[in-house]
Amino acid sequence: MSEKVRLQKVIAAAGIASRRKAEELIRAGRVRVNGQVVRELGTKVDPEKDVIEVDGVEIRPPQAHEYIILHKPRGVLSTTSDPLHRPTVLDLVQTSRRLFPVGRLDADSEGLILLTDDGTLAERLTHPRYGHEKEYLALVIGVPTSKELKALERGIVLEEGRTQPAQVTVLGRRTPQELLDAGVPALRKESPKGFSWVRVVLKEGKKHQVRRMLKAVGHPVIRLIRVGLGPLRLGRLGPGEWRPLTPKEQRRLLESVGLAREAQKQSRALKAEGRRRKK
Ligand code: URA
Repeated sequence: MSEKVRLQKVIAAAGIASRRKAEELIRAGRVRVNGQVVRELGTKVDPEKDVIEVDGVEIRPPQAHEYIILHKPRGVLSTTSDPLHRPTVLDLVQTSRRLFPVGRLDADSEGLILLTDDGTLAERLTHPRYGHEKEYLALVIGVPTSKELKALERGIVLEEGRTQPAQVTVLGRRTPQELLDAGVPALRKESPKGFSWVRVVLKEGKKHQVRRMLKAVGHPVIRLIRVGLGPLRLGRLGPGEWRPLTPKEQRRLLESVGLAREAQKQSRALKAEGRRRKK
């Protein structure tokens, strides 16, 4: 199947010039394909393989970044490689890109991990300045009292200082999936089995933060699941399952960290990729 596209279209898609201006550049002999000046407007090229230069500078078709949401199971590391050859999040997804996880979840923690090759987005999502919300469901021993919840919300003094204000609520005895399905879960005072689910929303990410905060008020964490990251929700994705973000999720995520222009570029690049695939 041919991947060839008209030269002026490729130049325009790279954002160098409008289609008409691209035609002028070609006619003026300022465009080379694989080292040869091309003046023919009808010339077709393969943007993936041919080297196209305008005024001696190589242009590349816009490349869409990849964004994958993964439900990390327990026991899998949120790193790109492990010297001890334990399973990592990258073992769970099939992609030809060099992706990396944004932020970390402990090996014992589960839930939402974002994998991407977009370094700018990763930096913003993890930078404290942007105060991105991370939402967790924690199964804890006992049921935190309202006094303990208030202490958690105001901030707990850990080794490295006081934690920032957080939202903390007790959710009751339903499974995390039932809680997710229920949307906003009902508040329950007691758990007969001696455990309770607690919802924690943080704007920062100190090491083992949720576990340390809850332990500090006398409620060690038995299970920890991240269910939200900024505008993203884990939803019904099961452990080990993954999918690319939808274009809408991508746009909302990029916009949420002030990357609205990149969101537009990403959307153009996705469309260009779609067109290239169709040809
Ligand atoms: N807080 C923790 O304690 N562990 C995690 O994996 C994430 C947040």
